[in-house]
Amino acid sequence: MQTAEISSPAIAQVAALLDGLADAAVIVDTELRVLAWNAAYAHAVGVRPRRLLGLARQDDTHCNDLFRLGICSSACLAKRTMSSRRAFRVDEIRGSSPLGSAEDSTLIVTAVPITENGETLAVLEVYRDVTAEARIQERYKGLLERERQRAATLEEEVKLRTADLERSLRELRQTRAQLIQSEKLSSLGQLVAGIAHEINNPINFIYGNLDFLDTYVGTFQQIIEKYDACTLQQKDATKIGTLKADLDYEYIRADTSKLLHSIRNGAERASKIIQDLRRFIHSGVTDRGPVDVRACIDTTLSLLSHETRKGTTIDKNYGTDVPTIMANEGQLNQVFMNLIANAVQALDGNGTVSISASRRENGVAIGVADNGPGIPEAHLLKVFDPFFTTKPVGKGTGLGLSISYSIVNAHGGSLTAESTVGQGSTFTVWLPIGDNQTSTAEDR
Ligand SMILES: Nc1ncnc2c1ncn2[C@@H]1O[C@H](COP(=O)(O)OP(=O)(O)OP(=O)(O)O)[C@@H](O)[C@H]1O
Ligand SMILES: [Mg+2]
Repeated sequence: MQTAEISSPAIAQVAALLDGLADAAVIVDTELRVLAWNAAYAHAVGVRPRRLLGLARQDDTHCNDLFRLGICSSACLAKRTMSSRRAFRVDEIRGSSPLGSAEDSTLIVTAVPITENGETLAVLEVYRDVTAEARIQERYKGLLERERQRAATLEEEVKLRTADLERSLRELRQTRAQLIQSEKLSSLGQLVAGIAHEINNPINFIYGNLDFLDTYVGTFQQIIEKYDACTLQQKDATKIGTLKADLDYEYIRADTSKLLHSIRNGAERASKIIQDLRRFIHSGVTDRGPVDVRACIDTTLSLLSHETRKGTTIDKNYGTDVPTIMANEGQLNQVFMNLIANAVQALDGNGTVSISASRRENGVAIGVADNGPGIPEAHLLKVFDPFFTTKPVGKGTGLGLSISYSIVNAHGGSLTAESTVGQGSTFTVWLPIGDNQTSTAEDR
């Protein structure tokens, strides 16, 4: 402990304790003149103890002349302590080498009033150098921040990678489903080709001979009518009358034309199924040309106008950048016809069919969505299978979607279905532009 002359016993008592402190400590009077200090303080201010004693004896040497900190001028701790008569502690005062170090330091400064008879006579100030701890803390914070940033980057990378993987998985699943469907259709195609060929001939016999049968039956009826107009002998007339009654002649005569009519209907329906089957088998694209799918959809809509008039709303949303594609227009008409007809039939005159066409990747995406009853998941797996139908006999053959699928597949595109029961279904066709054709329909 070094001191100037101290008259107050209270100050002397505190001054006697200073050398026991490892931290720099100083006692200043109410005028901020240094009264006592320890070796650590002398070392910190960089003044030899003897010279410090000399300085302290001069009335004009104040503590802030020896140890200048940032707060000395802005909020002198000793003054605050004296006026408030309570202790203060200030952390992290950064100044240039206040404690003799060449670099910036971090200090914890504590100021305690020394009082006697209720009067503050002096202030004890203790300076603890926590530069090393602060630096470690700073470094630790930096490390933590770097670690946090690395974790965030890693998390972002994982998210991107997961999204990538999910997309690949989706695409893989879709490709697999398409492959299975194509395989199914091609083996079924061979079977169906044989059946269609075998059935086609007998159907042609029935259909081709119906006209003759119709004419012949008409001829027989004419002859019978002529006979009926002849006057027969009583005996013969009775015999023929009895025979007619026994054979139910009047009923047969009336029913014959109805029978012929329903045979014709049945044969027509069978022949239509054969035609559909043949279309299904021969859905490879033979004749391609530039097609504007929007015009193609509009043609289909006008053909279906009698169906759509019954309270179904058609909502069209075509992009302006829809490219012209190379395709077989007739076959595409058939695809759109079936998708839109299915949607209209599902709505049963109550709902909206939303049709969209837009550029997607190197092609066109066409969406046909309805807010109808939707398709149960178990059915969704089968809708592209030939002959899968939920429509009553005579209403649907179940070939529409399988033909559409084969056509789109032959064009190098894809046809997918999504549906939520109670909310509706969306069928999406994607067709590639094909053959260096990149102009939009507007360019033509
Ligand atoms: N938009 C839709 N909403 C609800 N169910 C649908 C829809 N589209 C297709 N389906 C279901 O898929 C089945 C198969 O459709 P697909 O077009 O192949 O045959 P279809 O319409 O029944 O008969 P076809 O088209 O040969 O006249 C339909 O019977 C129906 O159950
Ligand atoms: Mg259909």
